Amino acid sequence: MSQTFHNSIGGRWVPARSGRTFKNLNPATGEVLGEFPESGPEDVAAAVDAARGALRSWQLTPAPKRGELLYKLGALIASQKEDLARAATREMGKILIETRGDVQEGVDMAYLAAGEGRRLYGVTTPSEMPNKWAMSVRVPIGVVGVITAWNFPFAVPTWKIFPALVAGNTVVFKPSEETPEMGWHLARLLEEVGLPPGVLNVVQGNGPNVGWPIVQHPGVDVLSFTGSNAVGTRIATEGARLGKRVSLEMGGKNGVIVMDDADLSLAANAVAWGAFGTTGQRCTATSRVIVHERVHDELVRLVVQRAQALKLGNGLDAGVEMGPLVNAKQLERVSGYMKVGVDEGAKVSAGGARAAGEGLEHGFFFQPTVLTDVQPGMRVAQEEIFGPVVSFVRVKSLEEAIAVNNATPFGLSSSIFTGSVNAAFTAMRDLATGIVYVNHGTTGAETHLPFGGTRGTGNGHREAGHTMLDAFTEWKSVYVDFSGKVQRAQIDNN
Ligand code: UN1
Repeated sequence: MSQTFHNSIGGRWVPARSGRTFKNLNPATGEVLGEFPESGPEDVAAAVDAARGALRSWQLTPAPKRGELLYKLGALIASQKEDLARAATREMGKILIETRGDVQEGVDMAYLAAGEGRRLYGVTTPSEMPNKWAMSVRVPIGVVGVITAWNFPFAVPTWKIFPALVAGNTVVFKPSEETPEMGWHLARLLEEVGLPPGVLNVVQGNGPNVGWPIVQHPGVDVLSFTGSNAVGTRIATEGARLGKRVSLEMGGKNGVIVMDDADLSLAANAVAWGAFGTTGQRCTATSRVIVHERVHDELVRLVVQRAQALKLGNGLDAGVEMGPLVNAKQLERVSGYMKVGVDEGAKVSAGGARAAGEGLEHGFFFQPTVLTDVQPGMRVAQEEIFGPVVSFVRVKSLEEAIAVNNATPFGLSSSIFTGSVNAAFTAMRDLATGIVYVNHGTTGAETHLPFGGTRGTGNGHREAGHTMLDAFTEWKSVYVDFSGKVQRAQIDNN
C-alpha cells in the first residue's frame, strides 16, 4: 500500500480540505509511489494566512539567525543525499547520478544563501547636506508564491525558497504535481532544522486549482515561477494586473556551436550529455548543434554513435544512462515533433520513436534522437521540445553560427567548441543568452553565478548567484538628519 502524504500549512501536516488525493507515479515503471493532497483554493487561502501570520516575527529574526538555519539545513540535506536522490529518480525518472547532482545543488544553494544572512548588504553614501546620513537597505517584500517544474524537483525550488527565506519573506510553495514528494521532503527538512511554523507552507496539487489561486491571492506579494512559456506568460499578465513582483524562468532552445578547429570527440561527448541527460528535459538542454560544414558529417557520426549506445531503463538500476520522459503527455509531445520535423524536411539520423524492449514496457521511454538537415527556421529548431532530441544545423562561418544561435524566441544557454581564442571571445561577446559556455556543453550551471536568460526565457530576473536576493527584496532609502535644522535637499545645497 502506498504512503499518504499531507500539505504543510502553518506548521501542521494536513490533508486537502476536500479530502481528495492524487497519485504520484513512477514514470519508469508505472508503480504508484504515494497519495498526495489534491488541494484547492481553500487550502491555498489557509497557507497564505499562515504565511502572513508568520511574516512579522520572521522578519524580526536577525538575518544571520535565518542564515544559520540554512547552514543546518545544508548539512541535513547532505546527510540524506542518497535517499533524497533515490526518491527523486523514482518520481521523475532521471538517473541516479543526475538526481544526486540535483540534491547537491540544493546543498550548495543552502550554503550560498546562508552566507547572505551575514551580508544582505545595503549601501551607505554621503548626503549632499551637512550633518545628515544617507543609506539604502534591502527589505523583504512579504509572502512569496513559489511554483516550480518537475525536471529539477529539488534544486530549482531551493533557488527560490532559500533566498526568499534568508531575506525575511515567508513562502507558499506549490511543487509540480509530477514531483510532490520532493516538495514534501523540503518542508520536512526545514521543519527538522527548526523553521518556525508558517514560514514555509507547501500546498500540493495542480496548476488550475493550486497554482492559479496562488497567483491571484491578494496576500501573495511575489510570484516566482519556473515552467513553460505559456503558463509563465499568463502569470506575468495576471501578476502585472495585480501589481505583483513576478520572476519567471521559462524555456530554452540552447545551441552548441562546433567550429572546424574544435576537439570533435569532446564536442560529441558534451552534445550527447547536454541533449540526452535528464532525457532532454532541462531548460538548459542542448537542442541544437550549429556545426561548421567542414566537420558536420564527422560530428553527426560521433553523436549518432553515442545516442545509439545509450542504455535506457529505470534510473535506479546500475548501468542505465537515460531514464524515461516524465509522463504520457510528454511522450506524446516529443513523438509529435518527429512528424513535425520530417514534414519540414529534417532527416532522422538516430532514434525518432518510442523505445521498446525488455524493462521498458511500463515506462515513457523515447529513443535518443538526432535530427539532421535541419534549417534554422524549422519548428524543431525553434520550439522547445523537452525531450531527448537534438537538431543539427549546418553553417559556413562563425558569424553565421552566432546569428543562427541568436535567432530563436529563447535565450537561456549557449556554447562554443573551438580551439581559437578569438572565436571564443567573439562568441562570449555576441551570443545573446544569459549563460555562455566555452568548450563545455549547455548544462552544468553553478549556483554562485546568476541563472536565467534573455528573450522568451524570462522577464529579466536572474536566480541564485549574487543576484539571488533581487526578486525577493526591495530597497528602502533612509535619511537621518542630525543637524537640528530643516534642510531642504536640492534647494539648500547650492
Ligand atoms: C534546468 O536546466 O532546468 O545547469 C536547470 C544545470 C543545472 C540546472 C539546470 N545546474 O544543468
